[in-house]
Amino acid sequence: MLPGTFTSPIAALAPMDGYTDPAYRQIVRQLNPDVVLYSEFTNIHGIEHSEQVRKRLVFDVSELPYFIQIFGNDPAGFGKTVESLQDTGVTGFDINMGCPSKKIVKANTGGSLMKDRDLACRIVEACCKATRLPITVKTRLGWSDAEQLIDFVKALIDAGTQMVSIHGRTYRQKYKGEANWEPIYELKRAVAIPVIGNGDIKGRDDGLSRLRNLDGYMIGRNAIGNPWVFWSDEKRAEITLKDKIEKMLAHFQLLRRYKDEHIALIEFRKHLSGYINGFNGAKSLRALLMKSTTDKEFTQVARSSC
Ligand SMILES: Cc1cc2nc3c(=O)[nH]c(=O)nc-3n(C[C@H](O)[C@H](O)[C@H](O)COP(=O)(O)O)c2cc1C
Repeated sequence: MLPGTFTSPIAALAPMDGYTDPAYRQIVRQLNPDVVLYSEFTNIHGIEHSEQVRKRLVFDVSELPYFIQIFGNDPAGFGKTVESLQDTGVTGFDINMGCPSKKIVKANTGGSLMKDRDLACRIVEACCKATRLPITVKTRLGWSDAEQLIDFVKALIDAGTQMVSIHGRTYRQKYKGEANWEPIYELKRAVAIPVIGNGDIKGRDDGLSRLRNLDGYMIGRNAIGNPWVFWSDEKRAEITLKDKIEKMLAHFQLLRRYKDEHIALIEFRKHLSGYINGFNGAKSLRALLMKSTTDKEFTQVARSSC
């Protein structure tokens, strides 16, 4: 089913733990009908054993195309997970093979799979056996350099992977330095499946300018509090503070569908800067919004700014 399912080139919102929850994905969807969305990465054992964790994967049909991103290290567990979720209407499953966090790598999950090609392939095979939905992989250039990238992805393709997204940094780099897209272009010259480039993209125009032979681009950090990031620079220049405040409030109201007042007010704090930075008085507005203790106060403070 890939790649014809998506617009060309593909524009994707990067999975981001703590950010790309249903509320934010729906806000991004309101402004961008075609962007491919991903869940936050979610542990396969959590999905099997915890109702709370399964709740993280809830999505609205408007979010499609939407991939559930999963991580773990047990091929049989992956198979079970995708089988249990394949009838939810989800577009497909993305396997996290890039997360560099200490806890994740120590547990032999996420980025550590770049060092264990055999296990990485067995995981993909188990998923493909368990579902007919597409299995995709998000990974990095490699552990300490990009030497193995092409061979690693070719092995994943032989195992059944239908699309890859590559963050142009190594595990060792974490988030340091600049993303290097050259090995991603080289990878695409060597494989036939869709390849999405990721790392440091500022917006749609920047994504398109980096695209070259790739099938798409994926934006992460610059999308935080900025659901317009997939618009052209020209169109984005026209967005007013009022537009931003109203969209921020719509985002907050969506979050309230999933979270109670107190939790939503706290969780929303991390989105504030993205929405309001760059406008006069942003600092004091943010401080006031951070202190708000009710929906009503939050809304009044926000609207009083424009
Ligand atoms: C706060 C945060 C959470 C992230 N969570 C995930 C995740 O759950 N799964 C994943 O594959 N990558 C995750 N990433 C990595 C991003 O998807 C992306 O690859 C990375 O930020 C580089 O893209 P960018 O420069 O556009 O931000 C996360 C990044 C950030 C900053």
